[in-house]
Amino acid sequence: MRHVVIEQGRMEIVLAPDAMTACREAAARIADYMRGAPDPVLGLATGRTMEAVYRALVGMHRDGLSFARCRTFNLDEYYPIARDDPRSYHAYMHEQLFRHVDIVPGRTRLPDGAAPEPERECRAYEDAIRAAGGIGLQLLGIGLTGHIGFNEPPSDFATRTRLVELDEETRRQNAEMFDDRWQDVPRRALTMGVGTILDARCLLMVATGAAKARIVRDALEGPVTPMVSASALRQHPACTVILDSEAAGLLRLDR
Ligand code: F6R
Repeated sequence: MRHVVIEQGRMEIVLAPDAMTACREAAARIADYMRGAPDPVLGLATGRTMEAVYRALVGMHRDGLSFARCRTFNLDEYYPIARDDPRSYHAYMHEQLFRHVDIVPGRTRLPDGAAPEPERECRAYEDAIRAAGGIGLQLLGIGLTGHIGFNEPPSDFATRTRLVELDEETRRQNAEMFDDRWQDVPRRALTMGVGTILDARCLLMVATGAAKARIVRDALEGPVTPMVSASALRQHPACTVILDSEAAGLLRLDR
């Protein structure tokens, strides 16, 4: 594994030989955080990339890693969608992680995609994160539009949890759960804002696969701009980005 430090020493890029190694490395870092923090508050992500990260965490749980002290907040949820809809991120988290580990049910939270008043739900979500003492480690993927959470371009770096419109490209990217019919992917979502994400004490982004190479290059080596939400990570004091060789394929890494 190769480690590169950029942005005046603030961003660590970890280059893994393949996707499995990248996801295992991410899981190992999450586990280190959980073991080291008295009251771990984890920010979680969904999507295909995270499936292997959660598989690795479930394996570590079977080997003794406990989630009992953890509180979790997810980045986002479609809107509107019922919690028990199998395509919801509530269902995803239950399937991929929560049902396999000893996490306390009342200590996991995602934005409520069925909230009748989304603005109120967003304010309550921000309040709940604050009441938990803030997020210690936020896990992130990156969308083809450069989004983190569902912060589509342009997203101001000061944005907080809010209702957003999803880009068509994102809806196409996420069509698999909707029988490959991108038109059926909800048009809107509730998401932590870029500012909410930047408030986490540590950020951990994972990107794998050749399809992500262009946007990873734009985010890490292009301009820092609201047109690429993930470029905001370079303003964070403690961010690690774990990439497999395909996702890192277009980086110059000459800093
Ligand atoms: C999901 C999320 C998104 C995904 C991103 C990558 O909670 O916040 O930002 O991380 O769209 O998704 P995959 O891994 O499916 O390519």
